[in-house]
Amino acid sequence: MPETAVKTAAEIRQDFLDFFTEKHGHTFAPSSPVVPHDDPTLLFTNAGMNQFKDVFLGQGEREYKRAVNSQKCIRAGGKHNDLEDVGKDTYHHTFFEMLGNWSFGDYFKAEAIQWAWHLLTEIWGLDKDRLYVTVFEGDDADGLEPDEEAEQLWKEHTDIDPSHISRWGKKDNFWEMGDSGPCGPCSEIHYDATPDKSGSELVNRDDPQVIEIWNLVFIQFNRDKSGKLTPLPAKHVDTGMGFERIVRVLQGKTSNYDTDIWMPIFRAIQEKTGGRPYGGDLEDHTDIAYRVIADHIRCLTVAITDGAVPSNEGRGYVLRRILRRAVRHARQTFGVERPVLCDLVDSVVESLGEAFPELKKDPERVAKIIREEENAFLRTIDRGIEHFHDAAERTES
Ligand code: SER
Repeated sequence: MPETAVKTAAEIRQDFLDFFTEKHGHTFAPSSPVVPHDDPTLLFTNAGMNQFKDVFLGQGEREYKRAVNSQKCIRAGGKHNDLEDVGKDTYHHTFFEMLGNWSFGDYFKAEAIQWAWHLLTEIWGLDKDRLYVTVFEGDDADGLEPDEEAEQLWKEHTDIDPSHISRWGKKDNFWEMGDSGPCGPCSEIHYDATPDKSGSELVNRDDPQVIEIWNLVFIQFNRDKSGKLTPLPAKHVDTGMGFERIVRVLQGKTSNYDTDIWMPIFRAIQEKTGGRPYGGDLEDHTDIAYRVIADHIRCLTVAITDGAVPSNEGRGYVLRRILRRAVRHARQTFGVERPVLCDLVDSVVESLGEAFPELKKDPERVAKIIREEENAFLRTIDRGIEHFHDAAERTES
């Protein structure tokens, strides 16, 4: 990497937006809400392309052909679900930001590949020896050919080591938004963070040292409810880069949680629970609790700001489970028996409010909803403990 100061998360987000708006004529299209009010096929917004689904399907238009943003996403419940991994590892989140650039029937594979490579290796100076790309190997059941075009473009339009290109099947290299909807082959870029650059065999192996950072999807089909693929009238590009992951890579950390994104939230957790500082250990219960609570309060704050509420069904139920998971960690690990998540909302606004100004509008309302839900759950826990003691006494007598 060039000898420059380490960039903050805010600077990295801005670099991405500037690269596509200033250098490549994209229009900044603000993130859509995480609650997809007009799409019944989705529980939460799970990718940047969701708000452009109508354009991909040829049913809608925008005033621009190229767009860029950082999209608020939630992957908990539904097709893309990372909830159970959160807290235990270094790189999954229920809520995360996805940096994305899109072409609506405009540029296609060549530009998407070239620009992604240029941003990563020239603007951000990532070590080319640490980058691996995957392309689609084809699929007989769906009658799809291998994506030789993408493979060739990587070889011709970038200086990637050709031995760092590999072909993978549908699970890894054919992106679908849900059971139905726009989809297509994709080319993923992975980063090898092993100390000695020995990660070539760890691509797509769920190893925290070699992680996917950017997915370039070449949208060409619609999958209908019966599972049939139909070619779309135009070809589109839909890319998505995990913001928390690229910040970790560019800040030279081994965990997403060791970046400046999480500092205000960890500080607030420490202050409100009276716990010891975050230590970054993977197995330690206190550190796991820090990660779970920090992740979950971001998710709750963003989802409630965008109009969701904890409840007994659908997305409200997912939020209720997320809140309860965080409360259990606060109670069991930090010993806090009063509502505490509600006191962390301001720290989320502090870390995300510049990028997503809607968070600054009414954080008190968000905190109130969280406080009421925490109180209700704490009463349930207390009643459960009382019942347990009663039953234990009856058994003894
Ligand atoms: N839609 C693709 C993804 O979520 C690329 O943005 O990975």
